[in-house]
Amino acid sequence: MKEFVLNNGIKIPAVGVGVFRVEDANIAYETVKLALSVGYRHIDTAMIYGNEEAVGKAIRDSGVPRQDIFLTTKLWNADQRSGQIQEAINASLKHLDTDYVDLYLVHWPVKETYVSVWNEMEHIYKQGKAQAIGVSNYNPHHLDDLLRHANIVPAVNQIECYPYLTQEDVVSYCKTKKIYPQAWGPLGAGKSDVLSNPVILELAKKYDKTPAQIVLRWNHERGVIVIPKSVRRERLIENLSITDFQLSAEDVSRISALNKNQRLGSDPETFDF
Ligand SMILES: NC(=O)c1ccc[n+]([C@@H]2O[C@H](COP(=O)([O-])OP(=O)(O)OC[C@H]3O[C@@H](n4cnc5c(N)ncnc54)[C@H](OP(=O)(O)O)[C@@H]3O)[C@@H](O)[C@H]2O)c1
Repeated sequence: MKEFVLNNGIKIPAVGVGVFRVEDANIAYETVKLALSVGYRHIDTAMIYGNEEAVGKAIRDSGVPRQDIFLTTKLWNADQRSGQIQEAINASLKHLDTDYVDLYLVHWPVKETYVSVWNEMEHIYKQGKAQAIGVSNYNPHHLDDLLRHANIVPAVNQIECYPYLTQEDVVSYCKTKKIYPQAWGPLGAGKSDVLSNPVILELAKKYDKTPAQIVLRWNHERGVIVIPKSVRRERLIENLSITDFQLSAEDVSRISALNKNQRLGSDPETFDF
């Protein structure tokens, strides 16, 4: 499995599996066990997904040593607003049945607290409860504000990113600050026709790969970590198998040109939760 190296030297598998909208505990448990059995070593969850317990149990029952798995969870907005940051990480660790997560992310840039919360995140890092700390859904102006007060540069910024929302500005900003960009909704979150876009279909034929593999590899070529979600064995395998081929620079540009700034999720500037 190809890995990227975060700004504190921690390695992160370039492809992980996400478990958003896998609320059913049995399905979440089976998905994570299946993912680990087909070779995934990177799992992305969040307190708000409601499946941390199932994820933790699946890891424990998988037989894969905990230290071989890169596990991410996230600090929810309500906990940010209430200032219950220690309580939140402690609860996540308990549910996940682990002493530490590999990556702890601030889920959204809550207007009143997205700067001040970072010092608490730094504390969590120093306590060893997270091997790396980062943010999610932060635009460059949020990061500018945060960095003015930070002692530790976020390791990751997890943002919505797929060929109709290329986020070139956020990706290049993150690269200049040594913050790894990570793509959520990398396949279009099951809400987009991107996997049947004619350009993607043409490139799938050209490289003898599936549309999903082309779209995931496009982000990989741009140095963006991907965390596609699937509950199906064949798709989990398909989504993981993107490191045995390369897209040409010209084809990367053709995919980037599909951008139409089309968000399928909430906008970090206007979210209301
Ligand atoms: N930080 C944030 O605010 C945030 C927000 C949203 C998501 N996330 C994270 O990012 C992860 C991924 O995003 P996402 O789940 O929204 O969307 P996604 O990974 O882009 O798309 C998932 C959808 O694509 C389908 N799919 C998976 N593999 C496929 C393939 N090879 N061919 C065709 N369809 C395929 C899945 O269906 P099946 O399951 O039926 O295969 C599901 O409907 C989440 O699970 C979560 O961990 C983070």
